[in-house]
Amino acid sequence: MTGIVKRFPGVVALRGVDLEVEPGEVHCLLGQNGAGKSTLIKVLAGVHQPDEGRITWNGTEVRLSHPQAAMDLGIATIYQELDLVEGLTVAENIFLGHERARYGFSQRRAAARETADLLRRLGHSEISPTAEVGSLSAAGQQIVSMARALSRDARLIVMDEPSAVLDAGEVQRLFGVIRDLTAEGVAVVYISHRLEEIRAIGDRVTVLKDGGTVTTGLPAKETPTAEVIRLMTGRSIEYVFPPRPGVPPGEPLLEVEGLSRAGEFADVDFSVRPGEVVGFAGLVGAGRSEILETVFGARKADRGTVRVGGKALRPGSVDAAVAAGIGLCPEERKSQALLLGDSVATNISLASLTRFAKGGVLDGRGMRRASADIARSVDVRPPDIGREMRTLSGGNQQKVVLARWLLRDCRVLLLDEPTRGVDVGARSEIYGLIRTLADRGVAVVVVSSEIEEVLGLSDRVLVIGDGAVLAEAASGELDERGVLDIVMRGDAA
Ligand SMILES: Nc1ncnc2c1ncn2[C@@H]1O[C@H](COP(=O)(O)OP(=O)(O)OP(=O)(O)O)[C@@H](O)[C@H]1O
Ligand SMILES: [Mg+2]
Repeated sequence: MTGIVKRFPGVVALRGVDLEVEPGEVHCLLGQNGAGKSTLIKVLAGVHQPDEGRITWNGTEVRLSHPQAAMDLGIATIYQELDLVEGLTVAENIFLGHERARYGFSQRRAAARETADLLRRLGHSEISPTAEVGSLSAAGQQIVSMARALSRDARLIVMDEPSAVLDAGEVQRLFGVIRDLTAEGVAVVYISHRLEEIRAIGDRVTVLKDGGTVTTGLPAKETPTAEVIRLMTGRSIEYVFPPRPGVPPGEPLLEVEGLSRAGEFADVDFSVRPGEVVGFAGLVGAGRSEILETVFGARKADRGTVRVGGKALRPGSVDAAVAAGIGLCPEERKSQALLLGDSVATNISLASLTRFAKGGVLDGRGMRRASADIARSVDVRPPDIGREMRTLSGGNQQKVVLARWLLRDCRVLLLDEPTRGVDVGARSEIYGLIRTLADRGVAVVVVSSEIEEVLGLSDRVLVIGDGAVLAEAASGELDERGVLDIVMRGDAA
């Protein structure tokens, strides 16, 4: 790709970007939220038409006027916002648009068999080819997208933040698949905000900033992370978590006792004091999100109680949880009821309307001002809360989701993967903000598949595995290895 320019109304997303990818290499594409990474790969996938620039494939200039043209060349893309059809099965999604999906029973059986093979190759034979895609977790859907790319015998596979929804073990499996592919000469373009992954899997690095190329073709293994951060942000960031004052004194604000839901988790006990950040570490599927959703009343517990300030909540009632001051920032952006056609300001203030309604009149100006303040503090870019939500990059949409829950005055804040897809600069600001809320007396629970994040951010850590609390420790008493050991032993038991 040479000199690629892409303009959207009011924004130049790409201003002359160059990218060269060789067979068998893993080319990491890096840049802060909104730098233009997804736009560039959508140009490569034939989704967007560039305003200027050339694309050359095997020495021949090509025009990718629609996605099928890119696929026909052997370019497969795994999008940041997964694009599967939720009402179809795994096999149907994989073979959508292939002949195999169109014919009769025996073809369908062949498709199911081939799907099972692909899933096995990816180390996920537990996913059934006949399962409805909508019933799978984000991680599961990611695997299906990956299987679809493999089914097309692609020569170039583009992965837009694949690891954002995967846990440590799944990322290792993904890397195994990538190594097998590149050994066969397949090229991979890999986008991630988890910078430690670059050294692990990357060969070369291209860094975008504000739609321009900062550097391209840098050797991945030899470039220090601090240098990559500097190239991405234009400054050096001490990638540190805010200081932890330690477990605060006082009575617990949130108390969870014996919480159980058949098939999901059993006898979960924990408590959080005002001013405390408690982290849940564990693998995807360990039951952490289900526990948070049950505390929030979005799922009904079979047994157990949730108390806020000593008062038991009515089980299975979101209204009761909200009235008691609990807020949940859920895991998946899709389920966040984001109003993509509305402004950033509307999306942020959605959960706080009552706060700004005085005597039946909405204080629109106050609401916009508060939204603007909170948007600034999580660094939503561009810094214009009037913008339509759909025009924001993936990481910036995530920041809006977080802002929504930060604006709401919660006594207990449950955060599920709060920094998913958020770049290194904004991350440290979000960590600071979470700590500020805790300092103001909010009881915070954080779930993250990045163990380093849980350990760095929390005063106390609970290790969750297979729907049970396997261990609890003050931060500083556990390291990443320790958490993984507990999880593995727990799984084996
Ligand atoms: N459809 C669109 N209409 C208008 N502006 C858009 C559209 N898509 C992207 N943009 C803008 O283009 C710029 C680049 O966005 P892009 O999604 O490529 O960023 P990114 O590097 O993938 O970021 P992230 O890490 O957050 O995913 C941003 O300013 C974004 O707001
Ligand atoms: Mg993106």
